[in-house]
Amino acid sequence: MTRKKRVAILISGRGSNMRSLIEAARAVDFPAEIALVLSNRPDAAGLVWAREQGIPVAAVDHKIYAGREEFERSIQKMLEINRIEMICLAGFMRVLTPWFVGQWQGRMLNIHPALLPAYRGLHTHERALEDGVKIHGATVHFVVPEMDAGPIILQASVPVLDDDTPDTLGARVLDQEHVIYPQALALVAGDKVAIKGNRVLARA
Ligand code: GAR
Repeated sequence: MTRKKRVAILISGRGSNMRSLIEAARAVDFPAEIALVLSNRPDAAGLVWAREQGIPVAAVDHKIYAGREEFERSIQKMLEINRIEMICLAGFMRVLTPWFVGQWQGRMLNIHPALLPAYRGLHTHERALEDGVKIHGATVHFVVPEMDAGPIILQASVPVLDDDTPDTLGARVLDQEHVIYPQALALVAGDKVAIKGNRVLARA
């Protein structure tokens, strides 16, 4: 197998998707290694767990920076020091500037708790229930400057049940997030897919 890609996971909170990525990356044949977990919140619960696993962790507190670009330049420096080649956003709740996104074009993934392009933004489960949709889900996509857009790598759908609340529906979606995010990372890190326009296609 070719060398494993060095991946940073960016989080802001709980970090359950981070955990699924770290656990999947333990497999010897997984094409990526998690070389850094970085949070914009020093108190993110996910940081504690990652540190316990022996993964290098860093906190770059956005509140101490004058602006978004200064914050991002600090993150960029941290990524360079750790020789990071790809980024997985996993519940990272900061909007990124076109400059930062440009540095990582085709090398930065995000997971979103909805079937994009439906339900960009926040409160996706509440909005799906309000609309009465029967199918909901999750999407892993490449990050582009526009928020919650970009070529889709994988999606998983779940049924919406009559007695669902945002919490029960969200939990069903989250279970699928934990399945498709490691799969999507393996596809990209393993060079199994290529971006063609707005589509992600299997490499011939
Ligand atoms: C996940 O459901 C993820 O899809 C969502 O935040 C949650 C983070 O949970 N991301 C977004 O809404 C980004 N637009 P986690 O910290 O347990 O992975």
